[in-house]
Amino acid sequence: MSSITIINHPLIAHKLTLMRREETSTAKFRSLLKEISLLLAYEVTRDLPLKSEEIQTPLRVMQAPVLAPEKKMVVISIMRAGQGILDGMLELIPSARVGHIGLYRDPRTLIPIEYYLKVPHDVEERDMFIVDPMLATGNTAVAAIGRLKELNPTSIKFVCLLAAPEGLDHVQEEHPDIPIYTTAIDEGLDEHGYILPGLGDAGDRLFGTK
Ligand code: URA
Repeated sequence: MSSITIINHPLIAHKLTLMRREETSTAKFRSLLKEISLLLAYEVTRDLPLKSEEIQTPLRVMQAPVLAPEKKMVVISIMRAGQGILDGMLELIPSARVGHIGLYRDPRTLIPIEYYLKVPHDVEERDMFIVDPMLATGNTAVAAIGRLKELNPTSIKFVCLLAAPEGLDHVQEEHPDIPIYTTAIDEGLDEHGYILPGLGDAGDRLFGTK
């Protein structure tokens, strides 16, 4: 069974509450998601390997830790709301490459259909972070993870802001090998697949498209 990490931090909890508030503006919502994403990036990169390098400080030579250069990363944004997490993650790990995956749900069959996929050419050599703020039914996440697994990245982690128990169960059932990171688990879903109490449509709130 894949691991679920709930990133517990007072700053995250406070910022998430601000994001949930109906009256929070688009600009504020966007900047809060970016701030939380910095902290998410901090947590999901916790196990990056280090190597030792000799450096000169103003006072003397020392052996200092640096990130192992062979560790390459790629952040995959699930369009379109994934962009909100992507921006914050890139601020902390600017050397990461970026990919995008777009899926829409066929209104007849409800099956997610891929309409866009672009990833770096050397994706097989990279640790992959798949980002999407809302893990609701899990249908999109399951489809995206399945498709991205076919590209054989070195590893995959799924990173979201808010999860519903239904979505977590779904991803764990279909992809038990993929660790999931979230900042909170809400109560459930409404009849339209929205997370309750949630924060509404993350894409609309991020881009002001409601
Ligand atoms: N996607 C969203 O943006 N919000 C939800 O609550 C569920 C899915």
